[in-house]
Amino acid sequence: GKPPNLYAFPGVDELAQSLRVFVLDAQNSALSRHQVFRVALSGGSLPKVLGKALLQETNGGGKVQFDKWEIFYADERAVPLDHEDSNHKLVKEEILDKIPAELGQPKVFPIDVKYLDDVQEMADQYEQTLVSVFASRDSVRLPMFDLLLLGCGPDGHTCSLFPGSPLLRESDAWVLPISDSPKPPPKRITLSLPVATHGIKIGFVATGGGKKDIMKQIFDTDEGRQLPCGLVNSQAQERVSWFVDYPAIEGVSFP
Ligand code: 6PG
Repeated sequence: GKPPNLYAFPGVDELAQSLRVFVLDAQNSALSRHQVFRVALSGGSLPKVLGKALLQETNGGGKVQFDKWEIFYADERAVPLDHEDSNHKLVKEEILDKIPAELGQPKVFPIDVKYLDDVQEMADQYEQTLVSVFASRDSVRLPMFDLLLLGCGPDGHTCSLFPGSPLLRESDAWVLPISDSPKPPPKRITLSLPVATHGIKIGFVATGGGKKDIMKQIFDTDEGRQLPCGLVNSQAQERVSWFVDYPAIEGVSFP
């Protein structure tokens, strides 16, 4: 296969324009295949950039058909949906609450807060949600998102798959519990690596000088290629596109 695509921009505004076109391409091809656009979103800095991309005045890439979107979480923290650590809260504030009424609202699949005290149960329930949407586990080996939009942590984690975690070896479960995340809060659920790499398209967004050391590792070193973000690159290859700003890739040489 071909290597991942890398698109670099002077700043976040230019990045957002291009991310918009990328997301709308994925939307339009999904809608022509199955009338619905199934997206998995991360937390961190991603919802804000995505909101900027989708809700700007320009019409680049065409119309955002929010009423055809189904939004899932690539990872989520085990907190109430209105808690400041909730990825859902972030997506709501940065995107959902800002969608003009005439565009309609996506169907959103948050975690079930009944299980805040039992992350294994929460993960199992979220997996059941995926099963009910994507088909039964007997008929598909893995759910196939039309698009996953992910971030890359300064240690190379993506979703809530952290470097060295035994969860990286999971080959069966679709959704996994974490009770000792090195990035707070400790209790989370995450898509498994096979699900994260199975998407039709995978977009990473990484901005700011705080990302340049990890970008260098992931793209320039063998150790970096073993980190979670590097594993997504090597397993999903040209299905992966990175959207970065210049500060994030200062000094990186791409092979
Ligand atoms: C989370 C995020 C996480 C995030 C990365 C990058 O819930 O913690 O989903 O995977 O995407 O940590 O975060 P930034 O984009 O803020 O650097």
